[in-house]
Amino acid sequence: MPVIIHQYKTVQDYSIGMGRLRKYFQKYFSVHIILKNSQSAISESYRMIRSSLLLSTPDHPPRTILITSMKPQVGKTTTTLNLARTMAQVSNKVLIIDADMRKPRIHKVLGVANNIGLSSYLSGNIDELIIQAQPGENILIQEPPNENIHLISSGPIPPNPAELISSKRMKDLLSDMRNQYDYVFIDSPPIFSLADALILSTLTEGTIIVSRAGKTTFEGFQAGLKKLQDIQPHILGVILNAVSSRHLGKDSYYNYYEEYSKDQESRE
Ligand SMILES: Nc1ncnc2c1ncn2[C@@H]1O[C@H](COP(=O)(O)OP(=O)(O)OP(=O)(O)O)[C@@H](O)[C@H]1O
Ligand SMILES: [Mg+2]
Repeated sequence: MPVIIHQYKTVQDYSIGMGRLRKYFQKYFSVHIILKNSQSAISESYRMIRSSLLLSTPDHPPRTILITSMKPQVGKTTTTLNLARTMAQVSNKVLIIDADMRKPRIHKVLGVANNIGLSSYLSGNIDELIIQAQPGENILIQEPPNENIHLISSGPIPPNPAELISSKRMKDLLSDMRNQYDYVFIDSPPIFSLADALILSTLTEGTIIVSRAGKTTFEGFQAGLKKLQDIQPHILGVILNAVSSRHLGKDSYYNYYEEYSKDQESRE
């Protein structure tokens, strides 16, 4: 899988490189570009990703989708949330599972508690809690206020996340949730040096890799791909996140789109 990414040092290098980067990626994956700090363009980008997910295999689009990255802090959690919200605009039931049991964040963004969650369920502690729960009260699946999505938060940080993820309970939970929801998005820790996301990629129908402009390097990306290659998951695409619009060519579609959205905003 000879994918080449250059590490861009200057804006000029970057804009020359963007074309190359997309070309190299596109030989193997679909690539989606998310702009930096641009709310309206970001929403449009996610709608485009939604369409491409729905169209990727129209007969049976992937329903359990893992979001991961090679390195930390590239925008996995942001992507998981935005994709889930965008998908919830067109489908009935969308669930997020926060499988980042090392640095969980989704519950914070959605403003819900995290005293019970995936780790409690996988380690078996929840059976007892289910017995204690009031009838009709689902203590594992939360319904965050003002959202169309449901959430299984990470639960308290366990000592052995990879072990929990490789358990039969995880596999069974995913197949149960797949039957109950139209789409299940799974946030995860980075691939680099951790087994969690690699294991999850074997349990899910599709994997999205998030990389971050100016941060993800050729070496970093290749090292991650190599790890994934051994597993051969179904890679749905690569998201290049936080691209500054000035890094894109003047005549690029994305640049055009930004101008277009600014136009729309000023008219509203
Ligand atoms: N397109 C973007 N434009 C500007 N800021 C962004 C963008 N995407 C993500 N960020 C910011 O970057 C930071 C890291 O994002 P996020 O938490 O989603 O990354 P992550 O890959 O899940 O990190 P971790 O590996 O720690 O779980 C956050 O502060 C987020 O708000
Ligand atoms: Mg995260």
